[in-house]
Amino acid sequence: MIEVTDLETCFSTGFIRRRVVRAVDGVSFRIEEGETLGLVGESGCGKTTLGRSILRLVEPDRGRIVVDGTDVTALSRSELRCFRPRMQMIFQDAYTSLNPRMRVRESVAEPLKIHRMGSRTDIDRRVRELIEEVGLNEEHLNRRPYELSGGQNQRVVLARVLALKPRFLVADEPTSALDVSVQAQILNLIRDLGHDYRMTCLYISHDLGVTRAMSSRVAVMLEGRIVEIGRTADVLDRPSHPYTRRLVDASLTGPCASLERLPLPAAPTTVEVRSGHWVEETV
Ligand SMILES: Nc1ncnc2c1ncn2[C@@H]1O[C@H](COP(=O)(O)OP(=O)(O)OP(=O)(O)O)[C@@H](O)[C@H]1O
Ligand SMILES: [Mg+2]
Repeated sequence: MIEVTDLETCFSTGFIRRRVVRAVDGVSFRIEEGETLGLVGESGCGKTTLGRSILRLVEPDRGRIVVDGTDVTALSRSELRCFRPRMQMIFQDAYTSLNPRMRVRESVAEPLKIHRMGSRTDIDRRVRELIEEVGLNEEHLNRRPYELSGGQNQRVVLARVLALKPRFLVADEPTSALDVSVQAQILNLIRDLGHDYRMTCLYISHDLGVTRAMSSRVAVMLEGRIVEIGRTADVLDRPSHPYTRRLVDASLTGPCASLERLPLPAAPTTVEVRSGHWVEETV
């Protein structure tokens, strides 16, 4: 379904001293139809750039991308515009993915209108269906992003994406800005709807727990390259690359393990009340 071969994407930065950042450096992998491939790796290793490159939201410098039998790298700008509905991406921050001035109804209807997917009444009916599918209701249709919670905004983003019935979805940490209870709801929603819509998915996350729950296979990325790829349980339970081992260890200890402990103030040993005030004596 998805075949990426020797993909490379570079950015050049700096005005006085030009510097080239090779964000994706010769990446190759396949994702089977209906499968979710997890993508993990530390911040800055190139996960988002890889996702964006596959969808040609940023132009790769080298390599070949085949999505659903179409060579995406060979498409012209106008062909790409027609192909775009088949591959979509959702991001961490739902709020910035939505137009702040648009009501939910307009946001969800917009892609249907752009791609001329039905008459006005058809689109109106489809918007209502979609909004229910993502667990919202009629009452939310007239709200704007600032009148919704982070989780509700992510549901609106999902409805917008599903409107186009994409064959391939890149989910870039879509729940990492949400609190834990809402994360579980959105993860379930993405998994269930992904299954219902028979979507193939690249699921980017730095949370290995989320990766285990969402993906049957996982790719580990380091400095623009994939260093290990395989079944999620095999890779995360029996990592063969030292970097994967480090990632797994870090996820077990958590971020606070590397923090220096702050000295605690000495605890009061005797507490007595004098003329209505607490007096603390410390040793
Ligand atoms: N538009 C850009 N211009 C220049 N450099 C960029 C650009 N986008 C990304 N980079 C650089 O490419 C590298 C990979 O960035 P990317 O956003 O893909 O990392 P990431 O793995 O998604 O990180 P995170 O987990 O923090 O989201 C970084 O060094 C980053 O600074
Ligand atoms: Mg990223």
